[in-house]
This record gives sequence, structure tokens and C-alpha cells, in this order.
Amino acid sequence: MNKSEEFWDGASKNYDKTEERFEYIHSKSRENTRKFLKDSDIVLDYGCGTGTAACQFSSQVKEIHAIDISSKMIEIAKEKATVGKTENVNFEQSDIFDNKYSNESYDVILAFNMLHTVPNPQDVMQRINELLKPEGLFISVTPCLRQKMSFFVNLQIQLVRVLCKLGLIPIPIRRITSSEVDNLLEAGGFQAVESEEIYKGASSYFVAARKLKTITK
Ligand SMILES: C[S@@+](CC[C@H](N)C(=O)[O-])C[C@H]1O[C@@H](n2cnc3c(N)ncnc32)[C@H](O)[C@@H]1O
Repeated sequence: MNKSEEFWDGASKNYDKTEERFEYIHSKSRENTRKFLKDSDIVLDYGCGTGTAACQFSSQVKEIHAIDISSKMIEIAKEKATVGKTENVNFEQSDIFDNKYSNESYDVILAFNMLHTVPNPQDVMQRINELLKPEGLFISVTPCLRQKMSFFVNLQIQLVRVLCKLGLIPIPIRRITSSEVDNLLEAGGFQAVESEEIYKGASSYFVAARKLKTITK
């Protein structure tokens, strides 16, 4: 098991509880996303965590492949799907770079609260580009840790940065801005169709972007 997987396994038990204080941002992001989903869509939820978003979107789309590197996050997500009798979501412990995924096979790819924690956002964007069908949609929500935030959230972020520097948090927590997300999208062959900076105690950037061209290495 790698360190990132171990870290997210450890975070899984309290994940939903710790995210409750950002519920406004999560609900607004999901509300924005719903407008773009169609009942014929095959969706990939990359880094699905405990599966809240995938379960909520399930009735609006054909099927969702929800993947996460943490087996514990996936366990919780599967329980949620069982309780909610959700049948068209397939939760799987997996990495987006696994070569079992075929190019151009998804209508929509979601990356909620992901881009600031991955070690290689440019490679992730390229992979998302490959996996999306032509003109497919990429929808991301990214905490912008260099932008406006409350005193307490700022204090917490500073603490997290110290823990990262000490090696006690083994994943990058990047202080990305909304313009940096826009640049990643543009370099990845996408054009934004809708974006919103959502603020409630913390800043998060919602963006829906269409794949304009295929980017190959
Ligand atoms: C901040 S959480 C976001 C979870 C969920 N998308 C949400 O919005 O609540 C990040 C998630 O990404 C997962 N993750 C990190 N790197 C990954 C990778 N390379 N492939 C798949 N999942 C990954 C972690 O296990 C964790 O559950």
C-alpha cells in the first residue's frame, strides 16, 4: 500500500463528518453539476471518496464508474449505495492511470476536491482528456487555498502545510488558484463552459469544461 492510499484510508472514517462544515460549497457544486448531466451519460467519478456525489447523481445518468485509491473510502461508498438502493454506480478501488480504462469512453468526468492534492495535475488532465469522448465534459471543484478564507480555515491550512513539510501528511496540498485551474484546463485541451467561485468560509472553484481537442504526449 502506498503512503497516499494509507493516508486516505486513515481519513475515511471521519471524512463525511469533517466535510460537513463545507456543506454549502458541496451542495452548490452538486447543484451546478446537475445541469450538465443527461440520462444517457456514462460518468467517471475520479477520487469519489465516500461516494456522496456519485450516489446523488445516479438517478440522472445511465451509469457511474466511481473510483478511488482508498479501499476504506470505497467500503463506505458501497455501504451508502446499498442503503440508498443505488444500482447504476460501480464503486471500485482503482487509480485513474490504470490501463484497463479505454480512451474516449466517458461522456463526463468528475474531479471533486482532487486537483489540489494530486502530485501531477498536468498528467491527470492529460489522462482525463484521453478518457473523455470527443466534446465530453470535465467537471471539477477545487479548493483554492490561496484565495479568500475565514480566519479558522486559514489557521487549519497553515497547520496542514506544517504537517506536510514535516512529512506527517504524505500528499501534496497545493495552494492552487482559480486562474491556475483555468491554465491547467486550457493546456489540457479544454474550454470552460461555466465557472463559479463559491465562497462560504473557504473558496472553491467550480468549472465545467468541454474537451475541444485530443492531447497526446
Ligand atoms: C479530498 S478527497 C475528495 C473526495 C470526493 N471527491 C469529495 O469531493 O468528497 C480526495 C480523494 O481522492 C482519492 N485519490 C487520491 N489520489 C487518487 C488517485 N490517484 N486515483 C483515485 N483516487 C485518488 C483519495 O483517496 C480521496 O478519497
